[in-house]
Amino acid sequence: MKQKSVFLPRDQFGQPVHAHGGQIVSHQGMYYWIGEDRTGRNRVACYRSANLRDWEFRNHILTVDSPAKPHPQMPTDLRLCVEGAGCNIERPKVLFCRESGQFALWMHWELPDNYLEARCAVAVCDTIDGDYTYLGSFRPIGHMSRDCTVFQDEDGSAYFISSARDNFDTHIYRLSPDYLAIDRLERVLWPGQQREAATVFKRRGVYFMLTSGCTGWTPNQSSYGWARNLAGEWSIRRNLGDETTFRSQPTWVLPVYNAAAGEFDYWYLGDRWGGRGHYFESQYVLLPLRFAGDTELSLEWLEEIDL
Ligand code: DGJ
Repeated sequence: MKQKSVFLPRDQFGQPVHAHGGQIVSHQGMYYWIGEDRTGRNRVACYRSANLRDWEFRNHILTVDSPAKPHPQMPTDLRLCVEGAGCNIERPKVLFCRESGQFALWMHWELPDNYLEARCAVAVCDTIDGDYTYLGSFRPIGHMSRDCTVFQDEDGSAYFISSARDNFDTHIYRLSPDYLAIDRLERVLWPGQQREAATVFKRRGVYFMLTSGCTGWTPNQSSYGWARNLAGEWSIRRNLGDETTFRSQPTWVLPVYNAAAGEFDYWYLGDRWGGRGHYFESQYVLLPLRFAGDTELSLEWLEEIDL
């Protein structure tokens, strides 16, 4: 099944799929695409697909009108939107917590006109595509927190990763057993190197982190680092893709089982941002990641991909 590597799919109603800065995860035999939807009072949308090509709109899982309740473990600001000001939610990602049986939604929270609040926010739901309950926003252990992602390890431990200290550093936080709170700061990565758009995956026991530079909505050279222990030493960064990462910014890496090869393929999902004033024209870039040995990664340009 071939398709263009740069695309903006339409859902079953003919509407563009708005799931920017998002993730595609597999759950109960289906793929779910969760990401930013800034239309109207919506903030986070969820779509579903059996084949990664045809996407069915499921729900606006977080809206300005979502119910809110206090966070069970930490003081948070419960206002999703501040009256008269609004709110901006970016890079939402969910994790399924086996211990609680619930989905935790982590995201970046800001007032609409700037990025000064630098907070993360959390919501929770019993189903992946249901109506999430907002648990509030906060700065993890007091640190600034902007672009973010999540990672779940095979042993059930889960992590929130975000750009800290005005984007100068990248923080890896370990989450509490219910995935709804920050437990501790595990690692400060690449201090002073100004990275954004982190996404983490694991292959053959090696952790990889993709990040971009910080140039707003304009694409730049992405890079990757690797580690054998998430909380331990990480490699220096190496370039990934071309100088604009094929005009995209990383948002997620999706493992897809390749039955013929008997192992997983890993697909790079990036945002080709429409930019300020053209946000809703933003497209997606999907390209296969290639590996040389266990720790070398490359991303090459393809006009068409075969799903
Ligand atoms: C780059 C970030 O990765 C995006 O999520 C968004 O915050 C833009 N910057 C805004 O300029």
